[in-house]
Amino acid sequence: MSDAKDLRAGIVPDILAILPLRGSVLMPHAVLPLGAGRASSVRLIEEAVQSGWLVGAVMQRDPKEDAPDQGGLFPVGTVTIIHKAMKQSDGSMRLVVQGLGRFRILEIVQREPYLRARVEAVVEDDPAADVELEALVRSVRTLFEKVITLSPGLPDELINVVGSANEPGPLADLITASVPTFGNEVKQELLETFNIRERLQKLASALAKEAEVAELGSKIQSEVQSEVSKTQREYYLREQLKAIQKELGETDERTAELDALRQKIDEAGMTEEAQREALRELDRLGKMPPAAAEYTVARTYIDWLVAMPWKQETTDAVDLDRSRGILDEDHEGLDKIKDRILEYLAVKKIRPEGKDPILCFVGPPGVGKTSLGRSIARALGRKFHRLSLGGMRDEAEIRGHRRTYIGALPGQIVQGLRRAGTKNPVLMLDEIDKLGMDFRGDPASALLEVLDPEQNGTFRDHYLDVAFDLSRVLFITTANVLDTVPAPLRDRMEIIHLAGYTEEEKVAIARRHLVPKQAREHGLDPERDIEFTREALRLLARGYTREAGVRSLEREIASVCRKVARRRAEGQTELTQVTPDAITTFLGTPRFEYEELQERTRVPGVATGLAWTPAGGDILFVEATRMPGQHTLTLTGQLGDVMKESAQAALSWVRGHAGDLSIAPDFWAHSDIHVHVPAGAIPKDGPSAGVTMVTALVSLLTQRAVQSGLAMTGEVSLSGRVLPVGGIKEKVLAAHRAGIRTVILPRRNEKNLLEDVPAAVRDVMTFHLADSIGEVLHAALEEAPQSASELAGQWA
Ligand SMILES: Nc1ncnc2c1ncn2[C@@H]1O[C@H](COP(=O)(O)OP(=O)(O)OP(=O)(O)O)[C@@H](O)[C@H]1O
Ligand SMILES: [Mg+2]
Repeated sequence: MSDAKDLRAGIVPDILAILPLRGSVLMPHAVLPLGAGRASSVRLIEEAVQSGWLVGAVMQRDPKEDAPDQGGLFPVGTVTIIHKAMKQSDGSMRLVVQGLGRFRILEIVQREPYLRARVEAVVEDDPAADVELEALVRSVRTLFEKVITLSPGLPDELINVVGSANEPGPLADLITASVPTFGNEVKQELLETFNIRERLQKLASALAKEAEVAELGSKIQSEVQSEVSKTQREYYLREQLKAIQKELGETDERTAELDALRQKIDEAGMTEEAQREALRELDRLGKMPPAAAEYTVARTYIDWLVAMPWKQETTDAVDLDRSRGILDEDHEGLDKIKDRILEYLAVKKIRPEGKDPILCFVGPPGVGKTSLGRSIARALGRKFHRLSLGGMRDEAEIRGHRRTYIGALPGQIVQGLRRAGTKNPVLMLDEIDKLGMDFRGDPASALLEVLDPEQNGTFRDHYLDVAFDLSRVLFITTANVLDTVPAPLRDRMEIIHLAGYTEEEKVAIARRHLVPKQAREHGLDPERDIEFTREALRLLARGYTREAGVRSLEREIASVCRKVARRRAEGQTELTQVTPDAITTFLGTPRFEYEELQERTRVPGVATGLAWTPAGGDILFVEATRMPGQHTLTLTGQLGDVMKESAQAALSWVRGHAGDLSIAPDFWAHSDIHVHVPAGAIPKDGPSAGVTMVTALVSLLTQRAVQSGLAMTGEVSLSGRVLPVGGIKEKVLAAHRAGIRTVILPRRNEKNLLEDVPAAVRDVMTFHLADSIGEVLHAALEEAPQSASELAGQWA
């Protein structure tokens, strides 16, 4: 250490080779291992070692700079002796250096091959040994010890290293070098602080801050520690408790619960996949504290798996007569459908493992689609569950949410199966035509999978996430219309149409089903308390409802039952005969009257048409009126394009045949014509009002009214041909409902008339089958001109 003594004595060379340090500060008196990679540094070290030079170690301001000049270096560095230097295989050096004393750079005198500078040694005065200094030294020592003891990473021996330093200056430098958490700025600042008192003060405050941080750290540490050991303790205690309970033959609640679950899993008859999932989840459950949120999630999942009807199954009824009996008991008429169901049962009997068809009941509201499904389940002896698809827009409603979602649940199919409790229930997917679709995915495509016999053997709900066999389920769907049912879905189903009931059928349904049912529901004995006469029921159907089904009829019967029930409650005991008079007393005057219709068509220019609607067919009026003007045709009543075009075609045809029809040939030259189809709020479209348009126009222009109680349907070509249209049965029933007894139909619809329209309706009505518009006009308009029958052929 002679150099150190020389240094004390002020023997520092004027010129020092400068070793720039990247991101470290060498304190005087401290020993530091260093690495040097720069060629200039390596050269410097080699020469210094060879010649026994002291060098000047200075920190660079920017550690990334490769060749810093004076400005890139801090102004104060440490005179350094190199104790050891080893060349590495990659050409860099490892060295151990010791700081001797501070120096200040005055001027760089050489830059190549390494820096050399003219320097000035900093000579530190020994401070006067007073009480203040003593106190400073002591507090620095204690703070340092505190930092060491509080920092788990620092060896306690460090205290001894510092203990050997007696003088305040070197003590401060050694401590500064020994606290690894001190930043380089702190160190550099202490290096640049030549006044020893000041250095001690700065050091004390840096140490105090360090101690505080260390203290906080160790506090956090110990809190974590104690938390951990607490749960560990609890765990051990619980294990011990378990052991003791086992010794005593008791098990704790939790184990009992898990055991019970395990048993349920074993007994549920799951598929291998499901059982594996369930057991895995159970295993996880055993390791979780019951208070954890995840516990409930896992528990609910296992509950769902266990509750599914993996093997529960009902045996189908095989007694066809009994099944027929049940179907008849629930529903009047509907023979075709009942036959279809019985066929299905017969096939099941012969080939029990065959695939089930998917039935789709299509028809207007209230014709018994939903209740038929229920009845089929009863006839088969299967469980029944109905789920409404109306307004369902999210795929997840069908298939469920993945379990990772909070509050996730299985989809409706799985929920329905669980509720049904068997794997072969009748699942009714009601209102399949009202299925929505939006950005959350397409429920229709999920349904496709459900209904596809090729895929539904391994249906995967997102929540359950294991395959469930749906192939034993009998799916029945219902719809009011088929157009909104996606084609791929339609293809998979066997469509069965229910068109609506005639008045006689409604009366029969009411007598045998609706009246007894509603009477019972209102606490009346259907045998002894109430009796509807046939006429009363007819009046209800005709005057208070206008529907294809029987839902409103049932509602009206219910309100009559309510009135009767009230009378009974007030003390009346004898049987109430409900006659047409009683109906008007109970419900007021009829809402729908035939007279209205006759009233409306009395004026020339109004014709009655027949329309098909999702609600099962209706009558509609076409009203034409004419005013002076410049040949414009105005069309109102929310008509669709096709209907507008048929109005234009009708006008063209009338203009083309004005002469034949005894209409002034130039009527169009100074007329405006307005065609309106009332019930303006309801959109209307389709070509089938063509004949009605022509009839209304001709009626207007010839001032011949349309015969009362007559309605018509048919498309017209420009040449005057009457073309066939759809929905004949619904339209004829609607006409019949409205009290119309004469209907004009396209001749090419004769087949539909004979096959689809019930004989009971056909028998009381008159039908004109028309090939040409001339025939239509002939049948429709009053006071036909003499030549009309001859004209009929000519107009065709
Ligand atoms: N042929 C029938 N015999 C006995 N009752 C019937 C018959 N048709 C319908 N009903 C009864 O009419 C009511 C309405 O039927 P349901 O609810 O099944 O109609 P729906 O066709 O499903 O109508 P929506 O399309 O509006 O759902 C039920 O109480 C049902 O029992
Ligand atoms: Mg329904």
